[in-house]
Amino acid sequence: KQIHILNGPNLNLLGEREGSIYGHVTLADIEQNCREECARLGYELVFAQTNHEGELVELIQKAGKSAAGIIINPAAYTHTSVAIHDAIRAINIPVVEVHLSNIFARESFRHHSYVSPVALGTICGFGPAGYILALGALTSPIPE
Ligand code: DQA
Repeated sequence: KQIHILNGPNLNLLGEREGSIYGHVTLADIEQNCREECARLGYELVFAQTNHEGELVELIQKAGKSAAGIIINPAAYTHTSVAIHDAIRAINIPVVEVHLSNIFARESFRHHSYVSPVALGTICGFGPAGYILALGALTSPIPE
């Protein structure tokens, strides 16, 4: 039983990038927390980050073949990528969208997400805790 957590462009810079918005926790810290939470929940974690849109598409396709679910922070591609929207549509496992910041409290170009309409749900504005909340959302049974 695997959960794949996929992170998009510039998230490799967490901890040094725009600290007032994104805080000082690094992506390695987030990975570590998620690893512990997955172990507790009885899932294996695959954690990835890429700055490339096509690679994110490939990671989604690959996860679609083997994982129980995906947690994705598509970063800036959230607001631009029909390819990521289509990749999520093409798979049959639940996808939870996560953003560290509250995208609706920021510039208007961040208010639209190509991913939200094809996600099970979206968690934004809770910083790194959003990933842990997403793990809870993915692994708790959702009533029909
Ligand atoms: C982000 C929000 C996006 O608008 C932005 O482009 C990011 C990070 C977030 O986690 O808050 O790179 O996805």
